[in-house]
Amino acid sequence: MSGEPIPNDMDAVVLTAYEGPGSLRVQRRPVPKPGKDEVLVKVAASPINPSDLAALHGRYGFKPNPPFVPGGEGSGTVVAVGPGPMGRYFEGSRVACLWDGKRDGAWAQYMVASVKGGVLPLHDSVSLEQGATSVINPLTASAFIEIAKKGDHDAIVLTAAASSLGRMINRRAPREGVEVINVVRSGAEEELLRKQDASIVLDSTDPDFDEALRDACHEHDAHLAFDAVAGPMTTRLLRALPSGGKVTVYSALSFEAPQIAPDQLIFEGKSVDGFWLGPFMQSKNLLQLMLMWRRAQRLLPSDLKSDIRANVPLAEGPSAVEAYVREMTGGKFLLRPNG
Ligand SMILES: NC(=O)c1ccc[n+]([C@@H]2O[C@H](COP(=O)([O-])OP(=O)(O)OC[C@H]3O[C@@H](n4cnc5c(N)ncnc54)[C@H](OP(=O)(O)O)[C@@H]3O)[C@@H](O)[C@H]2O)c1
Repeated sequence: MSGEPIPNDMDAVVLTAYEGPGSLRVQRRPVPKPGKDEVLVKVAASPINPSDLAALHGRYGFKPNPPFVPGGEGSGTVVAVGPGPMGRYFEGSRVACLWDGKRDGAWAQYMVASVKGGVLPLHDSVSLEQGATSVINPLTASAFIEIAKKGDHDAIVLTAAASSLGRMINRRAPREGVEVINVVRSGAEEELLRKQDASIVLDSTDPDFDEALRDACHEHDAHLAFDAVAGPMTTRLLRALPSGGKVTVYSALSFEAPQIAPDQLIFEGKSVDGFWLGPFMQSKNLLQLMLMWRRAQRLLPSDLKSDIRANVPLAEGPSAVEAYVREMTGGKFLLRPNG
């Protein structure tokens, strides 16, 4: 279809056991064949995200049997389509692609993606580099702001706030009338956010953090916290929010279960729930999805931008994952499977 022959084999980063980054190997694998309503994408770029780290430990929302190719999102060009009318719409298109856990992920030269939510066409103005990080964080940032606005929240709390996602939310939320109370875990992260004009940044390692967070939540009437850390942080947030407040856990960067103080639920009317982008998107109709996707693409060069730390050949994928684990704040590593 692209004129370029599709090889039988390809390079891929493969997880050989649920033992974390040390179990990643670069291996030769057969190029997968697209089935009904699936397309084959020649992958241009794929980031290393926290959700990928969770997947390497078998702690993500889907858990295929190793060996498998991880990589939650990427970008590339559709070079073959499977049977079914829907795939033809994407023939030859530049797309963002998503891993659904049923086939292999994006850390490979080719991946198969489902046309039912696994591929999104990229606008001509969006580069393949931008496209590689165009879905998970930009749409989650949009979702959090939408949830805050629908719930009439003028202020939200955000943990791990110096993350790529946190920086997007900090650029976008104030323009949408939502104040962000940022929680970070180091002075360097605080500085990073302040340089980006964030006005409320609290360091969870400060001795007076709990009091300062409580004061900020009450002063700004913040009843909603988005928590990426879990463990003891969840209960610290619960305690800081005014009565009736809610903590939405959307990740567990601490690799600990959220701690929940029962008195906060019983006597203070507070609650805890979870957020995952997939079901949030599935709750939308096609028109709503298209509008959200179009808007996110328009904002990719500005508010929804991801900083890229390094472009990495696939052969260096496993060591890039190790480097990312050591320091996550400094921007995304982008795997470049086809050079
Ligand atoms: N549920 C969903 O649908 C969904 C969608 C999108 C994103 N997310 C989540 O959103 C979060 C941010 O993603 P991202 O791609 O923006 O991340 P990122 O840019 O890679 O940054 C991760 C941030 O988390 C911090 N961090 C790591 N471990 C931590 C811990 N134990 N306690 C406090 N902070 C910690 C890192 O700080 P250091 O540099 O100090 O390690 C870094 O600032 C992730 O947890 C991701 O899984 C969830």
